[in-house]
Amino acid sequence: MGRQPILEDFQESLDDGPGAPNLLQLITGARGVGKTVMLNELGLVAQANGWVVIHVTAGAGMLDRIAYKARLAKSNLGSPAAGKTTTILNLTTPLGGVSREFVRGEESSFSWAEDVSELLDILVPRETGVCITVDEIHSLDDEQMHALAGESQMLIRQGYPIAMIMAGLPKAVEDLLAGDRSPTTFLRRAERQVLKDVPVSDVAESFEEIISNGGRSITEELAYECARATNGYPFMIQLVGYHTWRQGRSGPVTRQHVGDGILAAQARLGALVHEPALVDLSEVDRTFLVKMAEDEGSSRLSDIAKRLGKTSQYASVYRDRLLKAGMIRSAGFGKMSFATPYLREYLRDHAAHLMAQEED
Ligand SMILES: Nc1ncnc2c1ncn2[C@@H]1O[C@H](COP(=O)(O)OP(=O)(O)OP(=O)(O)O)[C@@H](O)[C@H]1O
Ligand SMILES: [Mg+2]
Repeated sequence: MGRQPILEDFQESLDDGPGAPNLLQLITGARGVGKTVMLNELGLVAQANGWVVIHVTAGAGMLDRIAYKARLAKSNLGSPAAGKTTTILNLTTPLGGVSREFVRGEESSFSWAEDVSELLDILVPRETGVCITVDEIHSLDDEQMHALAGESQMLIRQGYPIAMIMAGLPKAVEDLLAGDRSPTTFLRRAERQVLKDVPVSDVAESFEEIISNGGRSITEELAYECARATNGYPFMIQLVGYHTWRQGRSGPVTRQHVGDGILAAQARLGALVHEPALVDLSEVDRTFLVKMAEDEGSSRLSDIAKRLGKTSQYASVYRDRLLKAGMIRSAGFGKMSFATPYLREYLRDHAAHLMAQEED
């Protein structure tokens, strides 16, 4: 789905209020495809509607950060920061009413949902709500996932105006969904949005538009050349646009500008995306990728295993890890390919260095 319809559907759900489908969303997509940007955009939509927006990224203490931000918002709204010590959440289930009491003890950890529901109590009369975005959902540990899912579900069932938008890498999210524990049910209920690369023709059009808005010009052909070089990959769109533009300060964008701009953009992509991603991997993971880069197109597991001098079974462990890390994607027919543009070229250029590390 494109970006605009996601924003429009979210607006519609904010208008419809509690129970509307797009208040609970799970966004997936490759590295750098724009998930974090999308969470921010959705947050802006919610904010424009008077909702309180809480952005968090998965990691230690995430639930506490949600609670803290909720308390902060509450005090900014002019309500005493020290709220009730006890909150009763009344929840209606098909089996009848259940009520659950949260007591904020000194030692015991209390639920983040307590702070959020106190904030919601202030927002409900104003006909707004709370929008929580959780980035990198795949790196939440089991305990936090459980608490997030369980308490969110309770707030939602109570009819509170709460939006929960989560984002993560596709394979890692699939693994979360494949589980049979209770958080899975919550995640499965979320509207799925898969962010894809932007169509190259759209990229070309936006290059033409941006450049002419900047008081310069570019031919349709050169705009297409720039667009093709991005592969529709959002991060690369940004880089190609920026580096092509700065090759010349004024006047029409020339073929030379485009060629140099694309090269500069590719170099920056390597430094900003590929290099840090590779550093996070194990040595065998990196070697696996270097072996994949020997292929022109997609790769076969058995070929990679052969190049590694290992069995397919051994290689499949690394393939699965790399899928989960969002470095590669399945290309159908049991083949796999790189998940980000120019990673193949980067690996070829740096193979010696990457392999040397492996042989240390
Ligand atoms: N729709 C878009 N149009 C143009 N550029 C975009 C768009 N979305 C994202 N970008 C650019 O691409 C870059 C990567 O986006 P973002 O950080 O949101 O990706 P991500 O999917 O969260 O990546 P990761 O999986 O690494 O967290 C951003 O720096 C942003 O400038
Ligand atoms: Mg991100």
